Amino acid sequence: MEIVYYPHPTLRYPSKTVRRVDRELRSIVREMFELMYDARGIGLAANQVDLPLQLFVVNASGDPEGGEELVFVNPVIDQPKGSGVSEEGCLSIPGVHADVNRPSQVHVTAYDLEGNEIDTVVDGLLARVIQHEYDHLQGVLFIDRISDSAKKQVASELEAFEFEFQSQRAADKIPDEQAVHKRLAEIESRYC
Ligand code: NI
Repeated sequence: MEIVYYPHPTLRYPSKTVRRVDRELRSIVREMFELMYDARGIGLAANQVDLPLQLFVVNASGDPEGGEELVFVNPVIDQPKGSGVSEEGCLSIPGVHADVNRPSQVHVTAYDLEGNEIDTVVDGLLARVIQHEYDHLQGVLFIDRISDSAKKQVASELEAFEFEFQSQRAADKIPDEQAVHKRLAEIESRYC
C-alpha cells in the first residue's frame, strides 16, 4: 500500500459507503496511520491509498506517541459555523501549500471501526483536517478550494506532478484508467 499522488484518478473517485469491516480492513487502517506518520501528515483518506471507501484517519498532533488516533467511517458533516483561512497541504500533493477558507466549526457524525457512532462538534485544527479529509472522499482536493491567484502560484508545481504522472503511466508503473476502475470495483464488492 502506498500514497498516490495528484493527478491519480482514484483521488477524483467518489468513495462508497462501507458496509463491512473485517480483519484486513483493520490492518489497512493501521497501515494508513503508519503511512501518514511516515509522511508527516495529520490526516489521510482511503482514496489517497487507492481505496474507494468512505473512511479516513486523523491524528491532529501528527505524533504517533501522542495525540488521539481517530478513524471516521461513513462520515457526514453538517451545521457549519463561522469561517477561517489557514494554509493547507496534502500528502497526495507534497510540497504544495495554499490558504483555504473553511467553516471554523462543523458537526460530524460517523462510525468507528467497532461500529460505535461518533457524534461530535469540532473546531480549530481538528475541524479543518476533518473537512479536508471529508473532501477527499467526495473526490475534492484542497487545490479546488483556493483563490484564482493562489491557483496561478501553484500551477507550475501541479504541472510537474501531472508530467510525472504521465511519465509513470507511460512506463506502466501506474495502471491505465480501465485497470484502476476494475480494481476499485473489486474492493467495492468486498466492503460496500
Ligand atoms: Ni489531502
